[in-house]
Amino acid sequence: MSDEREKLLRAANQLIETEQMLGGEMVPRGQNPLPQSESQPPPASGMSREEKAAALEKMDVNEVRPCTRCGLCRGRMNTVFGEGDPNAALMFIGEAPGAEEDRQGRPFVGRAGELLTKMIIAMGLARQDVYIGNILKCRPPGNRSPSPEETAACWDYLVGQISIIRPDVIVTMGNPATQSLLDTKTGITRMRGNWQSLPLLGDGLAGIAVMPTFHPAFVLRQYTPDNRQKVWSDLQAVMAKLGLQPPRKK
Ligand code: URA
Repeated sequence: MSDEREKLLRAANQLIETEQMLGGEMVPRGQNPLPQSESQPPPASGMSREEKAAALEKMDVNEVRPCTRCGLCRGRMNTVFGEGDPNAALMFIGEAPGAEEDRQGRPFVGRAGELLTKMIIAMGLARQDVYIGNILKCRPPGNRSPSPEETAACWDYLVGQISIIRPDVIVTMGNPATQSLLDTKTGITRMRGNWQSLPLLGDGLAGIAVMPTFHPAFVLRQYTPDNRQKVWSDLQAVMAKLGLQPPRKK
């Protein structure tokens, strides 16, 4: 096959896979068993899965739910701690709860959440196989971006979650998550698709692999084949890093 033809075929396949991922026709193809996070440096805490679950629950109940560290506590219906496998090898981090998340007290359950769920399914996984969290645990009014003060006030909770879960890979979605976790001012358009290392946020956390990608809300706003292809190619890189099987062609 000529190079040109092969390139075209590859591009067409990628487009089809992306459509399958985001077009709603995708049938979940069997579970892609996600390695538990034992394959990476052992957690300093040496915590078991059950101990991780208990530590997350304790932080949620004792610290996050009663939190009054910033003004967002006054407008919230619920705090949104995060959810998923406490021992997940893969963690997704977004920005902050929106209206639906604030109502339900769960992350990514609105429209952007539906897309994130499809993305996870397209990877051959389920929501409960990964951990999903946010930079902020309370909804900013009008869904505006987190302020630096709010991010600082909520920071220890996120670092605490990462320290407990110790994922192999973190996917940061959008500018606020990418810029704060990687301590950079570079925008997501330049950062996405390029592997990064978590800086020294806490004991033993430096060096965790980070893949920045577009936020699902952005993809919904600018639902172009190009943006969808980019997100899918970022997620494929994550799958390769975690040793997950690529989706089968229809
Ligand atoms: N957007 C986010 O960044 N987080 C959510 O939980 C929902 C929407």
